[in-house]
Amino acid sequence: MSGGTVHDLAVERVEQSLAPHDLASLCDATNAAILDGGGFGWLEVQSRQTLERHFTNLLLLPEREFFIARLDGEVVGSAQLIRPPRNNEAQAFSAQLAHAFIAPYARGYGLARLLVRHVEARAAAMGIRVINLDVRATQASAIALFEALGYIRWGTHPAYARVDGQTVAGHFYYRVLEVPGGRPSAAALGRIG
Ligand SMILES: CC(C)(COP(=O)(O)OP(=O)(O)OC[C@H]1O[C@@H](n2cnc3c(N)ncnc32)[C@H](O)[C@@H]1OP(=O)(O)O)[C@@H](O)C(=O)NCCC(=O)NCCS
Repeated sequence: MSGGTVHDLAVERVEQSLAPHDLASLCDATNAAILDGGGFGWLEVQSRQTLERHFTNLLLLPEREFFIARLDGEVVGSAQLIRPPRNNEAQAFSAQLAHAFIAPYARGYGLARLLVRHVEARAAAMGIRVINLDVRATQASAIALFEALGYIRWGTHPAYARVDGQTVAGHFYYRVLEVPGGRPSAAALGRIG
């Protein structure tokens, strides 16, 4: 927790590549979060080489946008916005928010809230009206975060993940966005829910 210290919180979209120091910090943050219990995909701590390759490769994927969170300038977390492939025209109005995490040493400062709101703003600016996401039922902090940010739980998958030999349920959420300068989503989407 901040203990009264004022911290500099920042979120940015990575458009090209990550600077070597930022990539190193991201790898450290990833392994620290995995050690703490993960919840964003990985189960085991990964080698530096594996993580560097992973992050470098995902920056090349056309339907994926990558966002990093900084605490006092250091990269401490990330999130991805995944749009449907071009052939999926029927779902082009939606996107997935995935693999969001903040390193344990940077939690509780409001960075995840800033990260999610930043991803949403980028999505809305691209004309996306619905954000979908899913989270393990055991990730209490993430569930509290997304519900506090207005995400609506529409279902639970009983066999969502396997962790430490156990089958874990997962909750599925959506949130309707408003597109700046566009029609209201209530009009564009019609009645939902
Ligand atoms: C979930 C996670 C991203 C939250 O990161 P964070 O930077 O600590 O979250 P924030 O400080 O921005 O919290 C914003 C809000 O979320 C909720 N929240 C976050 N952590 C919480 C916790 N441990 N308990 C209760 N509410 C919590 C609160 O409403 C909080 O607002 P408040 O501080 O005003 O009460 C982080 O705990 C994490 O990386 N967890 C592991 C990975 C994971 O589960 N990812 C989600 C799967 S996609």
